[in-house]
Amino acid sequence: EPPYNSGVWRYKELIYPDIDDSLIVSKPEGNTNLYPSPKLARWTGVDKLYLKHEGENPTGSFKDRGMTGGVTQARVLGMERVACASTGNTSAALASYAALADMEGIIFLQNKAIALGKLAQGLAYGATCLRIDADFDRNLELVREVSDRLGIYVLNSVNPFRLEGQKSIMFEAIQQLRWQAPDWIVCPGGNLGNSSAFGKALKELYDLGLIDRLPRIAIIQAEGASPLYESYLTGFEDYEPQKADTIATAIKIGNPVNYQKAVRAIKWTNGVVESVTDQQIMDAKALIDRSGIGCEPASACSVAGTRKLAEKGIIQPHETVVGILTGHVLKDPDATIGYHSNMLEDISATYPNKLLQAGDNIDEIIHLLERE
Ligand code: F0G
Repeated sequence: EPPYNSGVWRYKELIYPDIDDSLIVSKPEGNTNLYPSPKLARWTGVDKLYLKHEGENPTGSFKDRGMTGGVTQARVLGMERVACASTGNTSAALASYAALADMEGIIFLQNKAIALGKLAQGLAYGATCLRIDADFDRNLELVREVSDRLGIYVLNSVNPFRLEGQKSIMFEAIQQLRWQAPDWIVCPGGNLGNSSAFGKALKELYDLGLIDRLPRIAIIQAEGASPLYESYLTGFEDYEPQKADTIATAIKIGNPVNYQKAVRAIKWTNGVVESVTDQQIMDAKALIDRSGIGCEPASACSVAGTRKLAEKGIIQPHETVVGILTGHVLKDPDATIGYHSNMLEDISATYPNKLLQAGDNIDEIIHLLERE
């Protein structure tokens, strides 16, 4: 029975205990796979690596788990319009859930650097799409100010009901491991909502006695968008917003709104922060894709980061790692095709896959596919 077929509302008591079921806006979401990946484990240098594929949510990213919480709350409050700034996935989820709830979705998108699949989703689900000549960080300021003035409900991860929903990623992953907590949770960090939600979820599970130890959270940022990492290097003494740039457009964020909460998550779980280059991200993505699992660039931070932390000896070979794949392989076709055709500036394909070419000619095709 809905909403308990949702991987979010199944844990309702830990997310939004007193919500009236009839108000819940759910597709349903969650119930994503946790893939054991021996091949990628070997590549990263650990014995046991599981990948939790949040790209398997209804709109192709983990954002659905937050959006069901956020749009449900919008309905509780009687809001007619909901809005967000987005690098593309939050907006895809908002557009879909707003449509389900008969609300107007309004999305602020950066003019450049939005993946094709994500832009298409916002349009397809019928949101009012605003392309603005500003980066994500500025768009977030703009949407908050505009929404404040016009009485529109903001559904960025500043919204606590979003983060409550995203806690379910931890609940579900650990339930899939039969309530045996892994040693590490490794995830990409952009606006830092997800990692903040993970910290809260793990602490709650631990405080309730549902797990007997706290996994350590490792937040992985792209080198060109790494304000948390830079701050981590100073023991969180200093913090400087950055002008962000990375191929992983989902996490092209220079001034994460959940910085403080993410610092708390790192402190609670004795966690770490790491950064990886665009090349490392795309190389890890190529191997995740080739293993048959597939993800978008930002998601590959989880695997690239695990490898880097294992190389540094921070993650030990015998430890169990759960990496979060945050988005679907179809979200950003340009990045994938660009990598395999060597069309991306500054990034050469370390693990190119074959894109063969032939005329309408049987002999030519047979020649291409013939084995020695
Ligand atoms: N991975 C993907 C695929 C994302 O879309 C995002 C964030 C992240 C990781 C980082 O998560 O912000 O909670 O640290 N995307 C947001 C958006 C910013 O607008 O879709 P975070």
